[in-house]
Amino acid sequence: MRGAARLTLTAAAAAFVWLAAPAAGAQPAAQGGYAQRFAALCAACHGATGRGEMAGTPALAGQHSFYAITQLFLFREGRRANEAMTAVAKTMTDQDLRGFSDYIGTLAPVPAPPPATPPDAARMTRGQTLAQQFKCTMCHGADLSGGQQVPRIAQQREDYLQMTLREFRSGKRPGYTMAMVEALNGIPPEDLDTLAYYISRYPGPSAKAAGK
Ligand code: HEC
Ligand code: HEC
Repeated sequence: MRGAARLTLTAAAAAFVWLAAPAAGAQPAAQGGYAQRFAALCAACHGATGRGEMAGTPALAGQHSFYAITQLFLFREGRRANEAMTAVAKTMTDQDLRGFSDYIGTLAPVPAPPPATPPDAARMTRGQTLAQQFKCTMCHGADLSGGQQVPRIAQQREDYLQMTLREFRSGKRPGYTMAMVEALNGIPPEDLDTLAYYISRYPGPSAKAAGK
């Protein structure tokens, strides 16, 4: 629901709207060498396709360029804390933020590898109920594929989801809007884990084109 999410943007977020807008005469990411730079600098952790196997490292494939640039900006400015990503982002120029994000926006979603054991049906049902009850689908979309500055969460890595939901909940990840802190308010920790379980195994359509 792009419209609803846009309403949650704070004044601070407006600061990087200009970053997301293509500069006059800017080269498309593919021509600016960002595909090669992604392969050299990012793929070791995030995977060549934008979905890697490293623990705690989110899949980027299928994220909208606007979401990606927002997060790179937050890492660069020290407003989202992660040792690996702070190191990566701190030397990025504005053009780099745009170039890497535009490139991420071209990566088609990569489905999660098939689970080793079939999902627990009761836990999946409980997760689906929680996602509706706490309006996750209102912002992230009925198929959890996100859009614009709202991230795709369908089939994201479970360990990453667990960690990042706890970080929103504790305030370690404040986000660029209060949307997530407010959304998680009052959800018990065990229900956060059930949400992560369900979302990472989300069975619905995941073949939607990148960034659409
Ligand atoms: C050493 C491993 C490592 C490298 C190299 C790395 N990343 Fe990351 N990246 C991470 C981890 C871990 C996270 C999750 C951080 C957190 O939990 O806050 C992350 C998060 C991100 C996010 C936020 C994703 C989301 O869903 O919120 C973006 C965007 C991103 N990285 C882009 C890049 C780009 C672009 C590069 C290359 C220039 C890169 N990363 C290189 C490990 C890495
Ligand atoms: C009012 C809109 C809204 C609602 C409701 C909402 N979200 Fe979010 N969500 C967002 C936005 C916007 C972001 C980007 C956060 C940021 O950086 O500020 C986000 C980020 C996330 C992320 C981080 C993804 C990543 O790649 O790092 C997860 C996971 C997530 N939401 C899960 C949920 C779950 C689970 C629920 C329901 C309990 C939910 N969201 C409800 C708007 C919403």
